[in-house]
Parts: sequence; structure tokens; C-alpha cells
Amino acid sequence: MSIGRERQTDVYVQGMSGAMPTVPVDFCSLEERARSMMTAEAFAYIAGGSGVETTMAENRAAFDRWRIVPRMLRDVEVRDTSVELFGHTYPSPFLLAPIGVLEMAHRDADIAVARAAAAEGVPMIFSNQGSRSMEDCASAMADAPRWFQLYWSRSRELVASLVSRAEKSRCQAIVVTLDTTLLGWRPRDLDLAYLPFLRGKGIAQYTSDPVFMRLLLERVEDSELDQDRRITLTTLKNLYQMLENYPAPMIEGLKSGKALAAVRQFLNIFSNPALTWDDLSFLREHTKLPILLKGVLHPDDAKLAVEAGMDGIIVSNHGGRQVDGSVATLDALPGVVEAVGGTIPVLMDSGIRTGADIFKALALGASAVLLGRPWVYGLAAAGEEGVREVLRNYQADFDLTMGLSGCRNVGEISAANLLRQQ
Ligand code: FNR
Repeated sequence: MSIGRERQTDVYVQGMSGAMPTVPVDFCSLEERARSMMTAEAFAYIAGGSGVETTMAENRAAFDRWRIVPRMLRDVEVRDTSVELFGHTYPSPFLLAPIGVLEMAHRDADIAVARAAAAEGVPMIFSNQGSRSMEDCASAMADAPRWFQLYWSRSRELVASLVSRAEKSRCQAIVVTLDTTLLGWRPRDLDLAYLPFLRGKGIAQYTSDPVFMRLLLERVEDSELDQDRRITLTTLKNLYQMLENYPAPMIEGLKSGKALAAVRQFLNIFSNPALTWDDLSFLREHTKLPILLKGVLHPDDAKLAVEAGMDGIIVSNHGGRQVDGSVATLDALPGVVEAVGGTIPVLMDSGIRTGADIFKALALGASAVLLGRPWVYGLAAAGEEGVREVLRNYQADFDLTMGLSGCRNVGEISAANLLRQQ
């Protein structure tokens, strides 16, 4: 039986004995369930976008501007939802987007996600802002597919170290996220005056890295605690929380009372707004793994990516969390696909909420997509099992949508299956 019918049958048959799905299938209900399980700060961080969240809304509106036109009587009894990327075959045309600070959603964080992704065979992209190290995640996944997402820091030595750890952790590709060299202006987080990294959350890839630890401790030695900052009870509580998240060697370095200075140094080093296209050659020379650039929206940037010898592009606006008012990814996708002219695969994310959305993205030229917030909500709602259910639901929804539209495999999906709304 196909994955779609299997999942449907499973849900309906279990319902006969009164058992309900572990997490809601409907996206809005899933988001509500997740909200009820999280602190206000965690929900704001995950659900929020930049500015007045125009781009978040536009990501969804762009999907609404396209309609699928199903074809009939095409024998879709046997279907194949798999895709091939960089010589690997994956069961569905989606991967788990890199998402940082998962400990805000659930205490098992990245490990629960790694187990769920491995169980479903869906590739997980480890976030550079993970709550658990890539080595810990990889060891929870056996041979299951994973990629690594890199934030290019101010230290090339750190970049090289992270990439070499990703190779050793048997990641199959490196995703360089370009759209977050600065953090976007996010009112929901600003109004709560809450940034998780300052509490020592989402920095496990750094504190598990020998180069970062060395650089950080050197800097702590050199820096002075900001004497102007008033130390209140809340400051002390937050520092304590932060220290709990740091491994022992770092705590030694911080005991001298310079924790705030250390965190400030972390913020200084972790991203690099001075990055240019020329820097990419450094990465190209440091790894044989395929490199994908995430955050490309302009066709000219897509051409530059090809010229720089990159292996893939991910059209993304970071789920509307960076430049508010920036173009919806589904609107940007066709221009980028045309610009690369089939030389390298183009993936996309931001706003995907249903199997039909995945179908539309593929029809407009994406080779695969990344799922973001939906599985994070599954994690918040029910840990590992919650993520598994969300992945199964998307697999099933996509399989059924593909078949009902008259396509037997992803290769048969094309722009001819779509109609643009006036
Ligand atoms: C992200 N995203 C992200 N991207 C990245 O390259 N590295 C990261 O660490 C993170 N962290 C992160 C945290 C949270 C809470 C969110 C919601 C998003 C962006 C992510 O990979 C993806 O581009 C978006 O989530 C896609 O948008 P939707 O589908 O979630 O709306």
C-alpha cells in the first residue's frame, strides 16, 4: 500500500477504537497545540517573523496564487515520491530545514528530531545554532541521511573546524545560510526582550568546538566585564541559566565573573556581515561535499552561485524572519530556476504547510523543499513521536496530492499541472 493510503487507513482505523492522532494534522491546530506547550518566549521566537510579518503572510499568499489542475485516468496505482540529490535517493521530496535552539520547543531537542528523521528516512539538516552537537545527533541516526548548515563566522579557522566535523559526522552536504549575517528586526522577541543565545541556548555546535572554545577563552582573558551594567537579581538568574548550558571547561573560564563579556564575544564572532562572494572559494577548497547556498532570492545571485562553483541553491527568506517586505519564495523560485538553467538543483522553503504546497514548488522547478515550523510544532507538542507524525502526514499528503493530480512520480510534475490565478 502507498504511504498516503497507509497513513490515512492508520488514522481512521485507530479512530474506530477511539484513538486520536498524537498531534493535530491541521497546521493551525498544530500551532495552537505547540503554543500551549511552550513558554511565551519560546513560542514568540519560533512563530515570529520580522517587522509586521508581511513576508510571512506573503509566503502563504504566493501559494494561493497558483492552483493545481489535476489530470484524470492516468493509472496512478503505483507511485514513487522519491527524489535524487547529489547521488543520494531520499524517500520524499522534502528535508527538515535547519532550525536552531530546539531546546525551546522540547527538552530532547535535536536528538528527538534526529531519531524521528532517521526513523522516517527524511534527511535532517543540522543547524549551526543547534541545542545539541552534530556528533550527538549523528550518533542517534545510524546511517540515516543528514546535512550540516553553516553560519559563516568571523573566524575562518572556526568555519573550517565546523565543516571538518560535519564531514566526520558523515553529513552528505553543507548548506551555507547567507541571509542571516545580521539578525532581522523581530518585534515579538524584542517586546519580550528575549534572545535565546544570550541564555546560552542554541550554541552547542560552538561549545563543542575546540577552535571556538580556544578563541573564546582567549577573548575572555582579554576583556573586561562591563562595569556600567547594573547587576540585578534577574541578571544573576539569567547568568546562572546560561552557565548551566555551558560545558565545564568554559565555566572555568567564566568563573572570574566575566560571563556577560563572554556572551558579547560570542555575539561578535558568530556571524560575519563582511562576507562576499569571493569568500566562498575558501569553503570550496576545504570540502569535497556538495555546497548549497541558502537564502538566494535574486536570479543574478543564482548566477553568481553557479560561477562560484556551488552545487545547489535554496531559495529561502528564512520563513519571513529577516527582511520584512522581501519577496515570497514561491514568487522568486521561477526566476532562480531559469537563471541556473538546470545546471544545479534549486530547493526552496518558507511557508510550506501542505502536500499541495510541495507539489506547487516542484511544479515551478524546485528539486525538493525544506519543511520548517510544522515539524518544530510537532516536536513541541509531542517530542520525537510528534515529529514522526508530522513527517508521516506530509509524506502522505504529498503522495495523495501527487496521485490525485495524475502524476506517478516527481519527474511527471511540471508547470503544466498549474494555473496561475488572476
Ligand atoms: C529558522 N531557520 C534557520 N535557518 C538556518 O539556516 N539556520 C538556523 O539555525 C535557523 N533557525 C531557525 C529557527 C526558527 C525558530 C525558525 C522558525 C527558522 C530558517 C529555516 O531553516 C527555514 O528557512 C524556515 O523555517 C522556513 O520557513 P517556514 O516554513 O518555517 O515558514
